[in-house]
Amino acid sequence: MDSATLDGLDGLARALDEALARLVDFDTEEREAASAVKDAIEEFYRAGLRQIVKVLRDEIPGGPDVLRHLAADPVVRTLLLSAGILKTGPTERAHRALESVRPYLNSHGGDVELVKVEPPVAFVRLMGACNGCSMSALTLSEGVRSALIEAVEEITEIEVVKDDAAPSLIQLGATRHLGSGWYHGPAVAEVARFGVHPFAVEGQSLIITSVDGKLACFRNECAHMGMELDRARVESDGTLICPWHGFRYDATTGECITAPGVELEQFPIRVEEGHIKVKLTS
Ligand code: FES
Repeated sequence: MDSATLDGLDGLARALDEALARLVDFDTEEREAASAVKDAIEEFYRAGLRQIVKVLRDEIPGGPDVLRHLAADPVVRTLLLSAGILKTGPTERAHRALESVRPYLNSHGGDVELVKVEPPVAFVRLMGACNGCSMSALTLSEGVRSALIEAVEEITEIEVVKDDAAPSLIQLGATRHLGSGWYHGPAVAEVARFGVHPFAVEGQSLIITSVDGKLACFRNECAHMGMELDRARVESDGTLICPWHGFRYDATTGECITAPGVELEQFPIRVEEGHIKVKLTS
């Protein structure tokens, strides 16, 4: 990840934030029209990107290597993640599934929190009108169950966690949102030149890795058994080594060296005035 590319990503992200901020002054009809144009353009680009990826992956010798090389670029990676071509992990998708049903739950006096995802089980806490044995509670909790199972193929069971048994609750709704899915991360100065810096955003446990100052952000979850990577080390050749069973990764792309084809879940970042911003992809 070179600094010129990061600068490019910064500029693009800022321009997007500014354009979206201007929509606030529009009336409802104008906002809907602008959103429809934006959605149509995004769908157009998404279709083109899918075709490019398909041809590279299936039809051109050496295409998959080109694709991997391209996907290591932060701007291209952001684009592929945003278009849903690179997949985010089950926890991120479970969060999004719950966000999609939250307005309905809230309108009926209920709410839900994601506690954790351990495929095939998602652990949730039901609150307000979602909690209990009434017909309406059962209807609302069934809505949560369907949303999760439909959106996250790795999840086939939902377990409801009671208050007194709640393990390490993933908090939702923290206040570090910068708009357009970007959140405050740590300061660059907090990250060792060759090291791992754990932090949390929106209740999600993440790490920043640095290879001689080249930064990347991943979910704090080893692709082997899902253990935390915050005590992993980064070697001088840019290898990230999981402390649990020694799986090795490229610390800038998340690609697993021990088990090719496996990778850490990566999140786009940008740096502004010495501070890292992370985009929770949608
Ligand atoms: S959990 Fe990381 S190597 Fe096993």
